[in-house]
Amino acid sequence: MIEIAAELPEHDPAVEGLLDLAFAGTWRGKTCHALRAGRAPVRGLSLVARTRRKLVGTVRFWHVRFGRSQDGLMLGPLAVDANARAGGLGARLVEEGLAMARKLGHRRVFLVGDAPYYARFGFTAAHTRKLALPGPVDAKRFLGLELVPGAFVGTAGLVQANAA
Ligand SMILES: CC(C)(COP(=O)(O)OP(=O)(O)OC[C@H]1O[C@@H](n2cnc3c(N)ncnc32)[C@H](O)[C@@H]1OP(=O)(O)O)[C@@H](O)C(=O)NCCC(=O)NCCS
Repeated sequence: MIEIAAELPEHDPAVEGLLDLAFAGTWRGKTCHALRAGRAPVRGLSLVARTRRKLVGTVRFWHVRFGRSQDGLMLGPLAVDANARAGGLGARLVEEGLAMARKLGHRRVFLVGDAPYYARFGFTAAHTRKLALPGPVDAKRFLGLELVPGAFVGTAGLVQANAA
C-alpha cells in the first residue's frame, strides 16, 4: 500500500536519494536547480509517496515570480522509484499537488520536462513563449499550466525565485 503525504524536512535525505537514482545524479545540474538551490520546497504542496518501508515518490513545488510581478509555482523534480513505476503513482503525485495548488489559490505553474508526459495534465509550451529561465532550456520542454483560465496571458520576462 502506498500513501501520499506532505513532504516534511525530515524526508529530505530520502527524497534526494530517490532523485539521485531517478536522474542518475544529474538533477542538481539542471537550469531549474538555480531556482531551487538553498531554498525549501513549498510546504503543504510538495508531496512524498511512501510504503511502510521506503519513500518511493516525490514531487516538489517552488515559489517563483514571472517577470516583475506575477507569482506562480515551479513543479519539479518529479520522480518515482523504478520498482513503483507505470502504476499511476507519478500522475497521482502531480494531480494531488496541482489540486492542492488550485485550492490554495495559485494561478499558474511551470516546469521543464518531457512534454509527452506532462501534456496529460494540460501543460503546454504555448504558455511560456514570452518567458525566460536563468540558463539554457529546450523550448519544447519549457511548459506551463494555467490553474485559472488566462493566467499566463501577458506573462513575460525572466522566471526568478520568489520568497513567498
Ligand atoms: C516520469 C515518472 C515520474 C513517471 O512515473 P510513473 O509512476 O511511472 O507515472 P505514471 O504511472 O503516472 O505514468 C506512466 C506512463 O507515463 C509514460 N511515461 C513515463 N515517463 C515518460 C516520459 N518521460 N515521457 C513520456 N511518457 C512517459 C509511461 O510510458 C506510462 O505510459 P502508459 O500510461 O501509456 O503506460 C518516472 O518514470 C520517473 O521517475 N522517471 C525518472 C525521472 C524523470 O524522468 N522525471 C521527470 C520526467 S520529465
